[in-house]
Amino acid sequence: SAILCLNGPNLNLLGQREPGTYGQITLAQIEQRLRDAAQQAGVALLFAQSNAEHALIEHIHRAPADDVAFMIFNPAAFTHTSVALRDAILAVGLPFIEVHLSNIHAREAFRAHSYFSDIAAGVISGLGAHGYELALTAAMHRLASGGSQPSAP
Ligand code: DQA
Repeated sequence: SAILCLNGPNLNLLGQREPGTYGQITLAQIEQRLRDAAQQAGVALLFAQSNAEHALIEHIHRAPADDVAFMIFNPAAFTHTSVALRDAILAVGLPFIEVHLSNIHAREAFRAHSYFSDIAAGVISGLGAHGYELALTAAMHRLASGGSQPSAP
């Protein structure tokens, strides 16, 4: 089974986009770090990014057929708007960790609400690109211990 790292709108512009908020690292560099870590652990990792809500929904719908058992998801701005993406995840029953580079609780009030946090296995926000690596570690741990139950400390 595989882990899907799915990224929402404008994250293709990481590196040039508001670097004071999101850092200098590009999505390709984040992807390379994750690929290295997954490869070392012998875990299959898929990577996808889209600026379109429907395309993200279709990635989620396809995930079970692609043998995806766990997802690392940064819904970006759709975090704060998308009932449709939330419903897609609930429809396929895919466990996931919600990741944000920035601390969404330390920004504009409209970013403090997420349509995903209450259905996520966990949430990482504010740790920059490192958040993705931490999420991958946790996701691999979950897969190895065979399920979506909270892992032992
Ligand atoms: C983000 C936070 C969102 O509020 C914002 O719309 C993004 C990126 C983050 O990774 O910090 O596009 O998800």
